[in-house]
Amino acid sequence: QGMFNQLMLGLMTPDYLEREVFCCGPEPFMQAVREALAGFGFDMDHYHQESFQAPAAKEEDIPELEDTVPDEGAMAEIVFAASGVTGHFAETDTVLNAAKTSGLNIPSGCTFGVCGTCKIKKLSGEVHMVHNGGISEDDIEAGYILACCSNPIGRIEVEV
Ligand code: FES
Repeated sequence: QGMFNQLMLGLMTPDYLEREVFCCGPEPFMQAVREALAGFGFDMDHYHQESFQAPAAKEEDIPELEDTVPDEGAMAEIVFAASGVTGHFAETDTVLNAAKTSGLNIPSGCTFGVCGTCKIKKLSGEVHMVHNGGISEDDIEAGYILACCSNPIGRIEVEV
């Protein structure tokens, strides 16, 4: 029951990264699954989906993915504003790991987006965040992110 999330997936199929995934459901659900799997490092060659509704008739009717997903080969720059530290990391690194690598401490707990302990303020830039309910929509709108499940896209600045 409830929304698809990494915690649920991990509990039901701990070896999901080695599995074939067959997905069928309303487009927003399938989009959430696709984005989540890509964010978890799943090899999307093993992802298959069945259209739940008639295919979009025209190219302009095909919904665009809203989110920018991290590019494996791309580098990101993270400015830890309060600490005066700037570092370069792969976009597939999490902000939490980047901080640790830089010798900075962001308090954390679950490390998969449930507990909310790693919530920090993003001052600028874009992240790809796949959380499991550990942050509210209001907080996201106010610019907060969960460092453990956020990948930096391009250049970002955080209040750490
Ligand atoms: S450490 Fe629990 S949400 Fe990030």
